[in-house]
Amino acid sequence: MNANIDWATLPFAYTNTGANVRCTFSNNQWGEITVHADDIIPIHMAATCLHYGQECFEGLKAYRGKDNVIRTFRWKDNAVRINRSARRVAMQEIPEELFEKCLRTLIETNKDFVPPYGTGASLYIRPLLIGTGARLGVNRSEEYLFIMFASPVGPYFKNGFKPGKVVVERDSDRAAPLGTGTVKIGGNYAAALNTTLRVQQEGYSSAMYLDPKEKRYIDECGPANFFAIKGNTYITPASLSILESITNLSLMTLAEHIGLTVERRQIPLEELAECNEAAQCGTAAVLSPIYSITDPANNRVYTFGKPDEVGPVCMKLYTILTGIQSGDIDDEFGWVTKF
Ligand code: PLP
Ligand code: COI
Repeated sequence: MNANIDWATLPFAYTNTGANVRCTFSNNQWGEITVHADDIIPIHMAATCLHYGQECFEGLKAYRGKDNVIRTFRWKDNAVRINRSARRVAMQEIPEELFEKCLRTLIETNKDFVPPYGTGASLYIRPLLIGTGARLGVNRSEEYLFIMFASPVGPYFKNGFKPGKVVVERDSDRAAPLGTGTVKIGGNYAAALNTTLRVQQEGYSSAMYLDPKEKRYIDECGPANFFAIKGNTYITPASLSILESITNLSLMTLAEHIGLTVERRQIPLEELAECNEAAQCGTAAVLSPIYSITDPANNRVYTFGKPDEVGPVCMKLYTILTGIQSGDIDDEFGWVTKF
């Protein structure tokens, strides 16, 4: 393993690991997979990704187990989702076998960067698809570049697994109801960037978006889905403007497994007053408990449990999820692939 990294204090930040994987699509076919040490890509200034947002990406992680085996979690779901995103912005889809081959090559060439077991760190993998063909009028590209790079990372939110603060955003939307909120494209993050920076400066971990139509129901939290525990029920928003989180889908399965009822439905903001626990969830966020959700427009703060204490259901779900990912707990759902 790479000896120059302090694994336990790793932030969620980019490190050049010296090996990224690329594949280009041109003349109607995908080419050979190539491995590159350089993290700079040459790109035409009129490329469609730069002007017309022909870009989509994914995020998944590789974990090192106690047994030293490297595992990934539900990578096929990422392979399916990147194609859903690609279709939405008229891009070339990536065959699943190609996605898998790139992933295997990436992990093989980056295995020294998969953090040691027990450090809380993991290898974040970022598949990225961009339109590279030059177009002046609004159009799709005929050429694409698929890249997979990796970076060892620690917790996404700086307080890690400690309960954080979230604030309700009412002055902007990250996505429109029939827009692109259900897919993972850069434009959604650009639309939220000013708000993200502002709320972080105000001491919050994330902005909570409401449904863009009525501004009544909870959508999601910046880069993560939202769920709450209400009595014996796991509730999480159903919405036409949020990303379907693979982590959230897994937590729903685990919640049922431990005897909770799962409800995926519209959640009015005020219902938070009846909830016992709340959290953000995602590949980067894992399960990040929320202590408070502030709604400045109504001068209201919803709190959950105690400021520094993770609620019992969140703790249980986190332990099982991360246990399966690291190989400590048997993967009875078939979510894990060993590398
Ligand atoms: N919502 C948004 C907007 C995200 O960017 C992410 C991260 O991928 C998620 C939710 C969580 O999704 P997943 O659990 O598949 O990583
Ligand atoms: C992820 O959880 O993988 C994300 O993509 C969230 C964020 C880093 C954009």
